[in-house]
Amino acid sequence: MPSSEPKAKIAPFPSRSEAPAAEKLGLTHRPRRNRKSEWARRLVRENVLTTNDLIWPIFVIDGERRTEPVASMPGVVRYSVDEAVRAAENAAALRIPAMAIFPYTDPGLRDPHGSEALHDQNLVCRACRAIKAAVPDLGLVTDVALDPYTSHGHDGLMRGEDILNDETVAVLVKQALNQARAGADVIAPSDMMDGRVAAIRAGLDGEGYEHVQIMAYAAKYASAFYGPFRDAVGTNKTLIGDKRTYQMDPANSDEALREVEQDILEGADMVMVKPGLPYLDIVRRVKDTFGQPTFAYQVSGEYAMIMAAAQNGWLDGDRAMLESLLAFKRAGADGVLTYFAVRAAEALRDG
Ligand code: PBG
Repeated sequence: MPSSEPKAKIAPFPSRSEAPAAEKLGLTHRPRRNRKSEWARRLVRENVLTTNDLIWPIFVIDGERRTEPVASMPGVVRYSVDEAVRAAENAAALRIPAMAIFPYTDPGLRDPHGSEALHDQNLVCRACRAIKAAVPDLGLVTDVALDPYTSHGHDGLMRGEDILNDETVAVLVKQALNQARAGADVIAPSDMMDGRVAAIRAGLDGEGYEHVQIMAYAAKYASAFYGPFRDAVGTNKTLIGDKRTYQMDPANSDEALREVEQDILEGADMVMVKPGLPYLDIVRRVKDTFGQPTFAYQVSGEYAMIMAAAQNGWLDGDRAMLESLLAFKRAGADGVLTYFAVRAAEALRDG
C-alpha cells in the first residue's frame, strides 16, 4: 500500500551551528538593505497617509454650548450646533477636507415614519446651515437613512416585520433633498435599500442640485462593529431586531462587487466599504475592479477597540491609529471616514 505521507518539499531549517556563513549564501537580494535607515525607508515607501485622506464624522445634539461624551467612544462627544461650528473651524484649520454629520434626535421626535428626517429645521439641517455659513470651504457629508429618526431604529419604513424597499426609497429622496437645500455637499445613503442611488440622483437633478455628489455606502455589512455608533445616536435601545435583511452578510465578497457596480451604474460619484479594517479585502477588490473613488469607514467599534486598548496601556494609541489608517491606503482606499480624523491630522501635522 502506498504511503499517504506527503513528501516534504521544503528542507528543514539548518540548526544555528549548520547555518552557512553569509558569503556562502550568495544572496543577491537582501530586502533589509532598503530598511537600514530612516531615509532609505522613506525613499522606498509605497503608501502615505495625509490629512487629505480624512473625513471626520461628528454627532450633533440639541441645545447650546453643549458637548456630551459618548461613553462607548472615549474622546468622542456630541456637539450642540454652535459647538459643531467650532469643531468644523478646527477641522478646517487642520485642513481636514470634509466632515460627516450624524444627529442624536430627541426620542420625542422619533416616530415610525422617521418624519423628522424631512423637517427642514432638523438637527442635521441646522448644523449644515451653520457650518456652511462659518466654514464654506469645508465639505459636508450627510447621511441618508431613517434610523436616527425612527422609533423602531431601522433605516427604512416597516410593515409588520418587513423593511419596505420602494416606499423607503421615496422618503430617502425627500430626505436627500432636504439636506441638499440645507447646504450638504455630499449625500451619503447608508440605508442599503435597492435602487436608492438612482432615485436620489434623479431627485437632486430635478431640483437643480446636479452638482451635489453622492457617496454611496455601497458595500455595507450587517456588523457588530456599529454598536458604539448606535449608542451615540441613541438607536441601541430602540432598534427592534437586526438589519440583516438589508445590510450585507459578512460572509460575502462577490456580492459586494455587484452592490458597488450597481451603485456606480446608478450614478454614485464615490463608493464606500463599511466597516473598515475587517473588510480591507473588499476595499482592495472594489478598487481593483472599478477604479472609482473608493472610501472606507473605520466605524465606531473599530475606534472603540483601539481607544480601549490604548487607555489600558495595552498598545500605543497614536501608533495603532496611524497604522490602521495607513492600512486603508495600502488596501487601495482614497480616503477614510474616521473618528480619529482630528487626532490623526494633529499627529500628521506634528510629524
Ligand atoms: C445608519 C448608520 C450606521 C452607521 C453609519 N450610518 C449604523 C447602522 O447602520 O446601524 C455606523 C457608523 C459607525 O458605526 O461608526 N444607517
